[in-house]
Amino acid sequence: MRNIIITIDGPAASGKEKIAKFISRKWKFKHLDSGLLYRRLALILLKDEINDRDLKKIKKRIEKIKKISFQKSKKLRTQEISQLASKIAIHQFVRQYVNNLQYNFVNKHKKIRGFVIDGRDIGSVVFKKADLKLYIEVNSEIRAKRRYKQLIDSGEKSIYRKILKDIKLRDKKDKLRKNSPLVIPDEAHIINNNYSFKNTIVQINKLMENF
Ligand code: C5P
Repeated sequence: MRNIIITIDGPAASGKEKIAKFISRKWKFKHLDSGLLYRRLALILLKDEINDRDLKKIKKRIEKIKKISFQKSKKLRTQEISQLASKIAIHQFVRQYVNNLQYNFVNKHKKIRGFVIDGRDIGSVVFKKADLKLYIEVNSEIRAKRRYKQLIDSGEKSIYRKILKDIKLRDKKDKLRKNSPLVIPDEAHIINNNYSFKNTIVQINKLMENF
């Protein structure tokens, strides 16, 4: 039997991860955060001081990667990595590399009942035949406020206006790029995450009734 695939797409800081974690815990599905893989690549390039415009070097460096960690880490969440991840994500060869990591991950875990995978192009490109597709909508000011609170709570210095600007910039990059832009996938259910998480969960529970 094929694994169940649930996709979650949406703009930066829209709460995809929190929703994915909720689904993963409640329905015992494995969570895969595709953004984390773009961030891992960004960290590798940053460490090796490879310029994001030097496509030849990026290609060569990617070819040399033997194994990439799927582990979450605080060092992947900095503004610098966020921006670099979004810069390199415009290139098709980078996207293909990350997509293959996702396919291999799913194929490797044949016995797992289901996966919940979040990103920008999961329902529209990577897993077009998913069993359930979600698209998360939240306005940019609310997203910036939530991200600001998160950073402050975790002890980091942060400026609300800078976060809002960064979120808007990443939205623009994600929506306007030629390769796999952020779109509402066909057949996706729109989740309104502007209000409380409780409110969001009610919407999710209704859609997940059949799983
Ligand atoms: O989701 P997260 O913010 O961690 O993703 C980091 C960056 O990677 C995003 O800003 C986006 O540009 C890119 N990304 C992407 N496609 C995905 C996941 C992330 O282009 N499926």
